[in-house]
Amino acid sequence: MPANAPESVTRFQIGTTCQELTRAALAAVHAPSVLNTQPWHWRITHDTALLYADHHRWLAALDPTGRLLMVSCGTALHHACVTLAADGVDFEVELIPADGDPDLLAVVRYRGPAQPSARAQRMRRAIRVRRTDRRPFAGRPVPQDSIDRLCRAAQRTHAHLHMTWARDIADLAAAAGQATAAEMSDPACRAELAAWIRSSGEGDDGVPVDTLSPLGARPVPIRDFTGTDPGVGIGLGFTSRIDVTDREARYGVVVTDGDAATDWLAAGVTLSAVLLTATAEHLATSAMSDLVEHEVARRTLRRMIGGVGYPAIGVRIGLPGPGAPPPRAPRRPPTDVIEVVADKIT
Ligand SMILES: Cc1cc2nc3c(=O)[nH]c(=O)nc-3n(C[C@H](O)[C@H](O)[C@H](O)COP(=O)(O)O)c2cc1C
Repeated sequence: MPANAPESVTRFQIGTTCQELTRAALAAVHAPSVLNTQPWHWRITHDTALLYADHHRWLAALDPTGRLLMVSCGTALHHACVTLAADGVDFEVELIPADGDPDLLAVVRYRGPAQPSARAQRMRRAIRVRRTDRRPFAGRPVPQDSIDRLCRAAQRTHAHLHMTWARDIADLAAAAGQATAAEMSDPACRAELAAWIRSSGEGDDGVPVDTLSPLGARPVPIRDFTGTDPGVGIGLGFTSRIDVTDREARYGVVVTDGDAATDWLAAGVTLSAVLLTATAEHLATSAMSDLVEHEVARRTLRRMIGGVGYPAIGVRIGLPGPGAPPPRAPRRPPTDVIEVVADKIT
């Protein structure tokens, strides 16, 4: 303390443990989320990182149960855990503590130093490279070895990755059609989708229009963002069904054992593990939650996976198409989503 400082002044410091946890929360800012809502908030104290849901960013029409909000927060949790493991930190995670604040989704507790994990370091490198790629994929099949590695990455988590086969395409297409019909006929869903589409360079959340891609004649249609507002499609010049085949896309479904909030968080962890592993394998991906947003589409998926478990989200996987990767979607400033509570020095 400086010689002239009054004794009653309380001083604060940010310890190294707190810095490790803050670094993990900073990496989690890059996690994918439904419509890029980024519905999370972190509070870091000296040896814990608390992950909260931000219900102001909940999509009440598209996601009435809150499943996709939880899946999104699960991806942020996994990004943080990957970063800690890559940095050589031992930690434990408690999901949805029973007696906590209802918005508190996870507590990550620092336990001490550990050997940095090479697998986590590979995934951590993928965090900055990964982005949603809605373009049609290259016309070459995804190597089976890569698919096997995605399945193994999912096996290390608490949900499963169900990879579909050519025979499932009709069911996937039916589910996508049912989802589009349900959403486009519901003014509240249409309004919510339109409210989260952003012009290029606008704002720090939402889906930038220049990350969208022509729908075309894909075997399994992707979400029709243009249907919410004809101006979006016209601006991009892709209202017509141009020749987009996307024939080599593979589809996975993240499946949980139960259908409760902890299962949805676990599904987000699995989704993140699959997306980051795919990126490390130089594969392109896009999540497809429209397949599960409406009960009728979700029932079709559930039948397709044999009625075992609960489909939480779909993933489209392929070799990237030619040309530059799609632009990055923006993120909220870290100061809006991370609160660091400094230690008092007595
Ligand atoms: C739970 C969840 C649901 C998503 N659903 C869709 C979807 O149905 N269609 C789509 O094109 N992208 C979907 N995405 C991708 C998000 O739109 C994307 O993550 C977000 O815009 C941020 O962009 P980035 O992934 O490039 O960082 C979803 C992502 C998550 C985590």
